[in-house]
Amino acid sequence: MLAPHGAGSAGRVISQFMPATSATRIIANGRVWSAVAVPAERAGDCAAHPAAIAVQQGRIAALGLARELQQRFPDAELLDVGGRLVTPGLIDCHTHIVHAGNRAAEFERRRAGESYQSIAKSGGGILSTVAATRQASVQQLVDAALPRVDALLADGTTTLEIKSGYGLDLDTELRMLRAARAIADLRALSVVTTYLGAHTLPPEHGGDSDGYVQRLCTEWLPAVAASGLADAFDAYCETIAFTPQQVDRIFAAARQYGLRVKLHADQLSNLHGARLAARHGALSADHLEYTDEDGVSALAQAGTVAVLLPGAFYFLREQQRPPIEALRRAGVPMAVATDCNPGTSPLSSLLAAMNLAAVEFGLTTAECLAGVTRHAARALGLQDSVGTLEPGKWCDVAVWDVAHPAELVNNLGARPLHRRFWRGQPDA
Ligand code: NIG
Ligand code: FE
Repeated sequence: MLAPHGAGSAGRVISQFMPATSATRIIANGRVWSAVAVPAERAGDCAAHPAAIAVQQGRIAALGLARELQQRFPDAELLDVGGRLVTPGLIDCHTHIVHAGNRAAEFERRRAGESYQSIAKSGGGILSTVAATRQASVQQLVDAALPRVDALLADGTTTLEIKSGYGLDLDTELRMLRAARAIADLRALSVVTTYLGAHTLPPEHGGDSDGYVQRLCTEWLPAVAASGLADAFDAYCETIAFTPQQVDRIFAAARQYGLRVKLHADQLSNLHGARLAARHGALSADHLEYTDEDGVSALAQAGTVAVLLPGAFYFLREQQRPPIEALRRAGVPMAVATDCNPGTSPLSSLLAAMNLAAVEFGLTTAECLAGVTRHAARALGLQDSVGTLEPGKWCDVAVWDVAHPAELVNNLGARPLHRRFWRGQPDA
């Protein structure tokens, strides 16, 4: 059964894993970090409090003491989590997890001293994945993505954003988006899809990027919007991709077709992508290594989330860090995501992404955890339905075998997930 249900302003989230029963369940004996109160700025700690969670029809009905909840819901099934840490399920708000091909050889070229940009200019990089993805069926794309998706699930992920962008022709982009929707039918998680129609210029356009932009705005965007397969639109504003003027035009068209926008911005140079994203009311601006103070204040004013992608920073051995202190001062919500992709960030663990955000970017434990929960939800426009443990939201929960929340960030390579609940249903 395919059951559409509310997913906030980013659009639909569809899955057959909609809990079929209305049975009430109480997740009891947890130490709960709800992500509702995130310690300000540099305060490092995330306080977890003893609490139980009552679940009805997949949503959180109440939080409180187990015995009070038992009185209120006497027929509820009790599930004791043995005093473990309970957090919102993790949200990966930026991935390119659907793709074909393999770029491990580029890893070796970069180790030998070549830059990402020069590999891209020689036909490698994004274009090499485009060539492989164009050969792949929906089924092949799903089969290739599932091991990566399963790795994310094993680290407590319950909501996943998936971008297209390795087709760059209408058919392949639609196949990628279909593969992303299919993943939501095959696993117990919420998937949010993004049409990354302006990732890079494919070779058949002979260098005519304005011509590509024209077709994108007049043919492909309306077709993808009409397909209902995309919840949002994304672009890459960079010297090796599209100019700010082109992105401006594309975003205007995307918004005209009802798609919220987000932007790969200021990753390798400062093209003032953050300000551009903010001006279009973007859900998020992502990467941001070269964003300046002006860009930061534009994000703050627009309420656009800064999505930090420390995996790409790490794998590319970038030297320029995003302006974390300025983002903090301005109160810009900072999300953390894997950017899971075959080139710049072959990373499929949000726990590892948090570790990189802490070590490379200096985020606190609290900032890391908020970055993969409440702020990641906002980056997807899903802040009303997931991201914190509050009555009325989906009961998407991760239960961890750790003594202290900081272990989730600190212990690189550990597999501390005890159990995952998606919409109130525990994994088998
Ligand atoms: O987010 N920056 C552009 N896009 C991806 C990289 C994709 C690739 O290299 O395949 C990113 O890092
Ligand atoms: Fe990306």
